[in-house]
Amino acid sequence: MKAELYFTYAGLTDQDLLGKTVVVIDVLRACTVICTAFAAGCREIIPVRSVGDGSALLANLDRGVVLLAGERDGYKVEGFDLGNSPFEFTKQVVRDKTIILASTNGSKAIVLGSNGETCLAASFVNISTVVERVTAIDRDIVIICSGKESTFSLEDAICGGMMLSLLKGKVELANDAACVACMLYDNYKNNLVSALRGCDHGHYLASIGFGGDIDYAAGVDTVGVLPRWDNGRLITDK
Ligand code: MLT
Repeated sequence: MKAELYFTYAGLTDQDLLGKTVVVIDVLRACTVICTAFAAGCREIIPVRSVGDGSALLANLDRGVVLLAGERDGYKVEGFDLGNSPFEFTKQVVRDKTIILASTNGSKAIVLGSNGETCLAASFVNISTVVERVTAIDRDIVIICSGKESTFSLEDAICGGMMLSLLKGKVELANDAACVACMLYDNYKNNLVSALRGCDHGHYLASIGFGGDIDYAAGVDTVGVLPRWDNGRLITDK
């Protein structure tokens, strides 16, 4: 298996993903939230590219079983039911619900990633579950780090590097970014919490009161679910 990694989804086309196993990473916070919502029993999650797409989609669905979630600048979008903090996605709130998710980067990266043969959502909280499935599929891999508005984000690169390190001996690193991500993981692996608190988006989230989300997102394998793209939405096999 060959493994490529991209620090952002900017410039990637659906052609680059055809026939590949695509893993989309957004540690702070979209993919961490997606895993948490599935662990809390939500039925499905529909990532969308924009707030407008989310509202338009909602208009055609049963309001009784659908929740609109998303953030801009880290804050809940006005008029939405939920923001993008994992602590909002509790069993009481999301069990058996369909969630439309409009986050700044992660939901867009997942919509692009859905052009792959298989598309999985990952963060530290479900990393070994994703590695297990990627290994079983045994197809060339493309890891997409969601980044921050088409720029590099350290937390996603470290997570990508950890994934490649867990796949050591099973994959051939097929681009420079994949090699750099492994080096970053090696550098930060002994203290992921401080790495996440020290990165740009971690700093920002802490400054607006979401510090707890960062510590939660640094938990490794705390939520063993496998969000997988299936016919226009994410579902979980676990
Ligand atoms: C994103 O998709 O950009 C992030 O999840 C944003 C956030 O939750 O702060």
